[in-house]
Amino acid sequence: MIKAVRGTRDLLPPDTELWNFVDRRVRQVFARYNYHEIRTPIFETTELFCRGVGEETDIVSKEMFTWEDKARAASEKTQTLTLRPENTAGVVRAYIEHEMGRSGLLQKLYYIGPQFRRERPQKGRYRQFYQIGAEIIGPPSAGSELPMRDAEVLDMLIALLDAVGLKGWTLYLNSVGCVNCRPAYNQALREALAGVKDQMCGDCQRRTETNPLRVLDCKVPADQPIIEKLPKIADYLDEGCREHFAQVRAILDTLQVPYQVNERMVRGLDYYTRTTFEFTHGELGSQSAVLGGGRYDGLSEQIGGPKAPGIGFAIGEDRLVLALQAQRQEAAEALKAFVIPLGTGMNRHALKLAKELRAEGVTVDVSDESFRLKKSFETAEKLGATFAIIVGENEVEADAFAVKHLKSGEQTKVSRAELLGYLEG
Ligand code: HAM
Repeated sequence: MIKAVRGTRDLLPPDTELWNFVDRRVRQVFARYNYHEIRTPIFETTELFCRGVGEETDIVSKEMFTWEDKARAASEKTQTLTLRPENTAGVVRAYIEHEMGRSGLLQKLYYIGPQFRRERPQKGRYRQFYQIGAEIIGPPSAGSELPMRDAEVLDMLIALLDAVGLKGWTLYLNSVGCVNCRPAYNQALREALAGVKDQMCGDCQRRTETNPLRVLDCKVPADQPIIEKLPKIADYLDEGCREHFAQVRAILDTLQVPYQVNERMVRGLDYYTRTTFEFTHGELGSQSAVLGGGRYDGLSEQIGGPKAPGIGFAIGEDRLVLALQAQRQEAAEALKAFVIPLGTGMNRHALKLAKELRAEGVTVDVSDESFRLKKSFETAEKLGATFAIIVGENEVEADAFAVKHLKSGEQTKVSRAELLGYLEG
């Protein structure tokens, strides 16, 4: 038997109902905040992620699906390509490529789609997973650096989680400083690590030299007591970063957004500056981060673009759906009616009624006349329909149908004219 590849999975009904419900709801919220959809390619040049996300991150150094793409024609070059492990680098590449900053306006962009990381699969962690993300980016003259944008993004996130019905999350917030404060912090980390790095894993030893901030991402249990004692970035923020963070927090307080500061949270991507955040959820076990994000004021320049500060996030949709399932959230739009043709020649009348109801926006499915009535009722129940509607010769003649409410068992005759109101009442 040929099976799905390890770390990938089939999303099947009825689970896909919940996925689609989430997609519909988040699109509505994005629209309310004036975000517009962007769709970038599933693969990009490897260089984009190396320069954007950072060579020393776990994502780039261990987890990318990368291949050598051979030239197929004289006009093509051999190049290395990578399935996108995240979408911020792709969005910023598109922003630069299409000169989206020329309008002088803030670009508010969202995306929903698959990402790929070669991680060890477990519950909530897959090699193909889905993100719902958004980025707000633009020239500084558009106000893209302002703390109020950070607060607005977090406020929208809470609206998104409310719209899908997620409860019981915690928002962790931090500031990771900027290019000005990073050198002093890196230096402090190197000094603190100098005496202890020999006791740490190979990655940490290397990262102490190449990118000491990444030591804080290490998951090796034996390294944790050492990492716990390392200097905190909060003590190395420069005046500008400290003031920016204070303002973000003050605006969040005004908007009544609850959060906890977590000074250990640096996030696993190199492009972050200043505000970073994660939302966790108790139902998710070890993979508890349902979403993460932050500011990336230097990313555009890092990959060859103009100055274009930005901030964004990505929700792990797989994890969001798992958390919703754990709290038994159901997709709102269930099957309303199951139309049951009764007797020879009734299929077409049943289909006609179903067509009329569907045109009115009712979710309807149809049985066929070869089913006995008992089997049709059983099927209606298995499908989770609220009503069964019987279409027999008498009903067609009278233009009125026997409508059974499946839970209560109550059956009523309802005329065609009154049917829609009856089903929705
Ligand atoms: P990230 O923290 O790497 O950030 O990923 C965001 C979310 O994607 C995580 O919190 C998690 O819910 C989900 N996720 C990540 N890896 C997996 C996996 N292997 N399986 C299932 N879910 C996963 C980013 O990707 C940034 N681009 C977010 C961002 C946007 N920052 C600024 N703008």
